[in-house]
Amino acid sequence: MDSLVINGGKKLEGNIPISGSKNTCLPMMIASLMTNEPVKLKNIPMLSDVKTLISILESIGSSVKYRKDEIILETKKIINHKASYELVKKMRASFWVLAPLLLRLGYAEVSLPGGCAIGTRPIDIYLEILKKMGVDISVKDGYVVASVKKIIKSTKFKLKKRSVGCTHFFLMLSCLADGKSELSNAAQEPEVIHLGNLLISMGAKIKGLGSKKISIEGVDELSGIDVVVPSDRIEAGTFAIAVSATGGKVKLENTTYQENENLLKVLEKSGAKIYKSTNTLIIEKSVGIVNPINVTTRSYPGFPTDLQAQLMALMTISNGKSKITEKIFENRFMHVQELVRMGADIKLSKDKAIITGVDELIGANVMATDLRASASLVIAGLMAKGRTIISRIYHLDRGFYNLESKLNHCGASIKRIRD
Ligand code: UD1
Repeated sequence: MDSLVINGGKKLEGNIPISGSKNTCLPMMIASLMTNEPVKLKNIPMLSDVKTLISILESIGSSVKYRKDEIILETKKIINHKASYELVKKMRASFWVLAPLLLRLGYAEVSLPGGCAIGTRPIDIYLEILKKMGVDISVKDGYVVASVKKIIKSTKFKLKKRSVGCTHFFLMLSCLADGKSELSNAAQEPEVIHLGNLLISMGAKIKGLGSKKISIEGVDELSGIDVVVPSDRIEAGTFAIAVSATGGKVKLENTTYQENENLLKVLEKSGAKIYKSTNTLIIEKSVGIVNPINVTTRSYPGFPTDLQAQLMALMTISNGKSKITEKIFENRFMHVQELVRMGADIKLSKDKAIITGVDELIGANVMATDLRASASLVIAGLMAKGRTIISRIYHLDRGFYNLESKLNHCGASIKRIRD
């Protein structure tokens, strides 16, 4: 297992190109199963999650060709109705393949994704959606076994909890269902809009993307498409927080203010300066005071849970008390004990973390526990005094493309130790 060694205390200065969005390209790759024509996706970040999904798609019958950041997926015939535990356990999003498998075969077996470090993450809403759409389901030996007699039934459905994954899932199923469907309390995340637009380009009829009510009229079939995957707002947000923590000035390329508006306002309150133009953002922070912040994570356009751990790293050196409330996942505070090892003062009470700023963090040996928590430890390492060694960095490789080389290019000192 690789580790990162960070020599902290260096300002970040330079340009960082933001890569394609992991959370956008995964559902797009899964949606490619909904047509037998080729789907070409450009600007793919070749992360380990993307590679895991490629293995799943190949096991289902897709031909996958990739070169640099371009991927062509073609599934003329589905040859396997089953997505195995060995593959699904590596990445929760792979559960979504259930939708295209059902649409093309009328039968599917997909492993239950199980819990993970950030909480139990149940699939009850997915199962409710399937039932409402006329799908017979049972859970056998850790697999969801689903079958449908003729065609998926269109339906009106209200999400009891706003879920990105359930919104993706509903969109995929209903755009080939037998009539008009409607989803209320839908997720409004940019990733949902991007998946919806991809499906529209493939021939789907979808209205209301980006609002809480999405209507979809089923069509008979979808066709192939050639699209560019939009950039990763969580990666951009992570770098914006990193500069706010180390001080310096960095231009983030291929990103917009709008997709990270909530975070950028928070960073401005903390003392950073943000300059925006059409497709770039400049983050500038002079070394000195970081103002404390109170933040609650919410679904989009609220503060993203995927940036909570990174913001907490910044708040450890504020000149006061900050409060971070996590409302999306019940156990997304695994980074806290590691930040405390570096000298942070953080008290947890249920879904709240009270962070009392300290003068400085001190480098230490820490362990990455999940994807976004690893990014928070990198930020902590960058601003800490001395050397930080982060182990279990495979979590980071799931979702951040070339993170250390992008940061080193801006003056950081990060070395990867391969085991
Ligand atoms: C996606 C993102 C993840 C992000 C999360 C929230 C991808 C690949 N992952 O995950 O990075 O942190 O959105 O923005 O895009 N829930 C239920 N029952 C269900 C389904 C979900 O209770 O059947 C709950 C979850 O446990 C969680 C909440 O709904 O508390 C929101 O989760 P959801 O939006 O579904 O997360 P994902 O789509 O898995």
